Amino acid sequence: MYDMKISDSVVYIGVNDKTIDLFESQYRVPKGVSYNSYLILDDKTAVMDTVDKRATNEWLKNLDKALQGRSLDYLVISHLEPDHASNIQLLAEKFPEMKLVANAKIFAMLPQFFDFNIEGRTVVVKEGDTLCLGAHTLQFFMAPMVHWPEVMVEYEQSEKILFSADGFGKFGALDAEEEWTDEARRYFINIVGKYGTQVQALLKKAATLDIQTICPLHGPVLKEDLGYYIGKYLTWSSYEPEEDGVVVAYASIHGNTAKAAEKMAQILTEKGAKAVKVFDLARDDMAEAVASAFRYDKLVLLGVTYDGALFPCMEDFLYHLKIKTYRNRKAAIVENGSWAPMSGKLMKAYLESMKGIEICEPVVTIRSAMKDGDTENMKALADTLLA
Ligand code: FEO
Repeated sequence: MYDMKISDSVVYIGVNDKTIDLFESQYRVPKGVSYNSYLILDDKTAVMDTVDKRATNEWLKNLDKALQGRSLDYLVISHLEPDHASNIQLLAEKFPEMKLVANAKIFAMLPQFFDFNIEGRTVVVKEGDTLCLGAHTLQFFMAPMVHWPEVMVEYEQSEKILFSADGFGKFGALDAEEEWTDEARRYFINIVGKYGTQVQALLKKAATLDIQTICPLHGPVLKEDLGYYIGKYLTWSSYEPEEDGVVVAYASIHGNTAKAAEKMAQILTEKGAKAVKVFDLARDDMAEAVASAFRYDKLVLLGVTYDGALFPCMEDFLYHLKIKTYRNRKAAIVENGSWAPMSGKLMKAYLESMKGIEICEPVVTIRSAMKDGDTENMKALADTLLA
């Protein structure tokens, strides 16, 4: 059992998953991921969300140990995504007297995932409602689209704990030795990034509460310097860049466009760019490239023409940026094509379909391998980008 002390009455019963290949079947998690679940022990006992089915056995052991022979009165369901909700039926069958605490949307969606009778076992809560457990009282706040429509969060009034569902989550098992920000950003931008407006609405509600601890459904419990984490969420959800810097993202088949990308990065550094991050879109982690594009205020795309279209990994990158509502950045384009270059036009069209992207002119065209004239054109493009 992972030992994470929250308080005498609130016990961590979640599980680290270090063997999953892809979280949500798409995100690489080289340091794993945690499915967090908590038990509140008071006059009444309450479990705050279950865990992924990959973690059922370990979670049940943690729960049994933490309950110390007591029964379970409530299961609070914040979110129905299976990485948290997989064990609802199992728990309901194990504790036949246990009540399910959730909002109306959750109860409406729950039968889609399970096949058991919830009649007589539901406690339906709405915005601002409270549930008294003894000395502890949970208050419920709806958080639609953070990250599904049924999501809610809970504020425990006596210990001032926010159970924040996916909010403030992070990739990485709890014993991963890494700082919070990079993997929390990669998680946020890729998983919740599309719903900035809804995250802002939740942060507005949270600002009215005196929060001393944040208990998310993934990643570490946050107890100190909460202003830092909330500040990052305010920035990320507003789509404003965090830092001055350039992401150079390239799609190269045989290496010529890769060489141009490295040259562009060198030019940008020589011209004083504060940070330059280069991504080979065919090989580097796509989620990291997307998160980095949101982190910095400038972007350079270098892409080949392939079958008269974009090379698939560039198309994939731009699709991700668009769907995560990338906006309010400055961008420059370098295309490559040996006989009929098209990628510049196509990359530009993608960027033009996003809000507030300032595209530097002109698009630089390389014909196959980079020549001296191309370098000069890229220098001029770098000047425009950094101006
Ligand atoms: Fe961690 Fe949206 O589930």
